[in-house]
Amino acid sequence: MLNFSLSSEPVEKQQVEALVLPVFKAEPWPVLVEEINKELGGRLLAKVAKERFEGKTGQMVETEVSMAHKRDRGLGFEKVVLLGLDKKEEFDDYKLRKAFGRVVLAMKKRRVEKAAIWVKGVGGLAKIGAVAEAAALADYQFTIYKTDKDEAKKELKEIVLVMESLRQKVAASPAIDRAELMIRATYLARDLVNEPASKVTPSYLAREAQRLAHGNVSVKVRGRLEIKKLGMGGVLGVAQGSDEEPKLIELHYRPAVKWSKGAKVKKVVICGKGITFDAGGLSIKSGEAMQTMKIDMAGAAAVLGVFSVLNELQPKAEVIGLIAACENMPSGRALKPGDIVKTYPGKTIEILNTDAEGRVTLADVLAYGVENKPDYLIDLATLTGACMVALGQQVAGLLGNDDGLMAKVKQAAVLAGEKVWPLPLEEEYQELIKSSMADYKNITDNKYGGAITAALLLREFIGKSKWAHLDIAGPAFEEKGTATVPKGGSGFGVRTVLNLLIGFS
Ligand code: BES
Ligand code: ZN
Ligand code: ZN
Repeated sequence: MLNFSLSSEPVEKQQVEALVLPVFKAEPWPVLVEEINKELGGRLLAKVAKERFEGKTGQMVETEVSMAHKRDRGLGFEKVVLLGLDKKEEFDDYKLRKAFGRVVLAMKKRRVEKAAIWVKGVGGLAKIGAVAEAAALADYQFTIYKTDKDEAKKELKEIVLVMESLRQKVAASPAIDRAELMIRATYLARDLVNEPASKVTPSYLAREAQRLAHGNVSVKVRGRLEIKKLGMGGVLGVAQGSDEEPKLIELHYRPAVKWSKGAKVKKVVICGKGITFDAGGLSIKSGEAMQTMKIDMAGAAAVLGVFSVLNELQPKAEVIGLIAACENMPSGRALKPGDIVKTYPGKTIEILNTDAEGRVTLADVLAYGVENKPDYLIDLATLTGACMVALGQQVAGLLGNDDGLMAKVKQAAVLAGEKVWPLPLEEEYQELIKSSMADYKNITDNKYGGAITAALLLREFIGKSKWAHLDIAGPAFEEKGTATVPKGGSGFGVRTVLNLLIGFS
């Protein structure tokens, strides 16, 4: 993982391959830029003019520092990069992340291993953690299956964040520590999503969870028999076509005693959809649609990512993580369209399309989570293709029954640089999920509003809890690669949930 260090040594003395100087569009040059330009005999700003650098978000201009300049002027860096942040008044955290993601990608391409960033150019302390997060998220690589390691590993190894003063350096240190936890948690979720489904089976997820049990985190795993005893007919039904045993994974973080005194600690239940492979079951997907279906456990991966850092982050909240991990496969034993399953609280669901399986497993798990009487109930699920049709591949759908909680989730997402957008739990559509054979059916008769009708079915299982549902089918997986999300699993939701939990402190 990318290593960060803080330095209050002068910018010119930084011994790095590249020095990054962030600049705003349409502002006078910062004094530092003028000075470095002078040291380089005017070459930096000459290049700015030649390349028509305007300072648009993530736009860059680079100048090499000659050996003679380095020697004569005592400069430590080998090249200087101006990085555009757009207009100062239009600058926000999304632009920040995009700009710093891009500069990291550019450095990696040039095989730079150590760079320095002059953070004064970006803003106050609050922005520094976001710079570190963006840089490390862009630096992520999943290369374990590449045999040409040299070709595969183009990692930036170290970033020196150059601060104004020793005092500022001390003040920024907790923000960097926190960013490093956010990064580690996101990396874990990305790894779990990127690993092939034949490796990341329900049992594998259960073992991953058990690995997280230490300190204030405990973990309980149940197998098929116990799931049956609990009466989770939804999970059992979806899993019955597969040779892999389903696992019900329960993680519990209890904050340290010092927190529980005085004000009441909030209790939060977080459920993640954990279909380790979604072939669709007998309502089988097309070859193309199935290609990426190892990602159907991205919600579960986010829950595990969150739990992997709770001991260190120590939020002032009791957190319960729930995952029903199973495969959705076709076979002679698989659920058949028309079958009816009995869920944990006893309500029945008619399975008309075995590919709408996430809502069936979540029905059990949400109802089970409600028994803890949580202050807040949150679920993350790669639930519907319909949500991708509605919001595209980078924005998660946010649905729920409590405006206060939804506002908190939205705020936490903005802070994380993740995009969520509300969709309504439209009452008029409720009757679309009523079945003539059972209490509910798992699909509707038409193809419209699928993200909403799926969430409406979940709502039937959350009792009176304050609940927020994130449909992450789009942003869980990045198809092309953006500034801060390389192709593959994104780890979406991890930092949003962590920010939310920290907010309770
Ligand atoms: N896991 C899929 C949803 C999905 C699609 C996630 C694409 C990520 C990318 C889910 O189980 C599913 O198959 N949903 C169906 C529901 C339909 C049968 C009503 C869908 O969205 O097509
Ligand atoms: Zn499906
Ligand atoms: Zn699915």
